[in-house]
Amino acid sequence: MKTPVVVLSLSLTILSFGGTYAATSFFKNNCANMVWPGTLTSEQKPQLSTTGFQLASQASFLLDTPVPWNGRFWARTGCSTDVSGKFVCATADCASGQVTCNGNGAIPPATLAEFNIPTGGGQDFYDVSVVDGFTLPMSVTPQGGTGDCKTASCPANVNAVCPSDLQKKGSDGSVVACLSACVKLNQPQYCCTPPQNTPETCPPTNYSQIFSQACPNAYSYAYDDNKGTFTCNGGHNYAITFCP
Ligand SMILES: *[C@@H]1O[C@H](CO)[C@@H](O)[C@H](O)[C@H]1NC(C)=O
Repeated sequence: MKTPVVVLSLSLTILSFGGTYAATSFFKNNCANMVWPGTLTSEQKPQLSTTGFQLASQASFLLDTPVPWNGRFWARTGCSTDVSGKFVCATADCASGQVTCNGNGAIPPATLAEFNIPTGGGQDFYDVSVVDGFTLPMSVTPQGGTGDCKTASCPANVNAVCPSDLQKKGSDGSVVACLSACVKLNQPQYCCTPPQNTPETCPPTNYSQIFSQACPNAYSYAYDDNKGTFTCNGGHNYAITFCP
């Protein structure tokens, strides 16, 4: 009677270690307008099956992601094809001239969802970051997994509270994005660059506090570790929502 148990546990082992380590990312657009998500795999690894796509309001999209995976997602807004046939976006453009970003990242400002998903049953790290500025509200929610597994998010419209010196305006004069103080002012106290490149010498600033007050569950500046980073064991599957 022992044989079936052995066979069962053996097949379970094969299932968990035999190349079934694919994960999925479920994208949902709850914004009133169309967005164009972009994907970037870090460290020169092969890019995902798509590096950019269109997502209508209320539409969703399921994207396979490998495990391990290290990379980021964001969304471009106000995109269109210009007279020369180039695809361009008002925010978070990736300068590929196409809907797909082809290994290019977002040009700041951009709200980012960042992932560090290790091999096997290890602990995933994920966050929503406004370190490179803000374009639209975003959340990341693990689907399954054990441990903390909390939703990382910047659900507020930071554009509405963006200080005038950080505002990025669209062609109609409305605030379409909010620059980070680092991108705008490029100073050590905002970028945590030398000589202020440690957590002790780079505390929150009056600018990063605007972001962290609006979005306490997002990364607001380079050393915002304690608040910004979220963990989940072995989940690997995530729901990414624009305008949650
Ligand atoms: C932040 O502080 C700097 C330096 O004191 C000041 O110039 C700037 O106007 C402040 N900005 C905001 C939004 O409070």
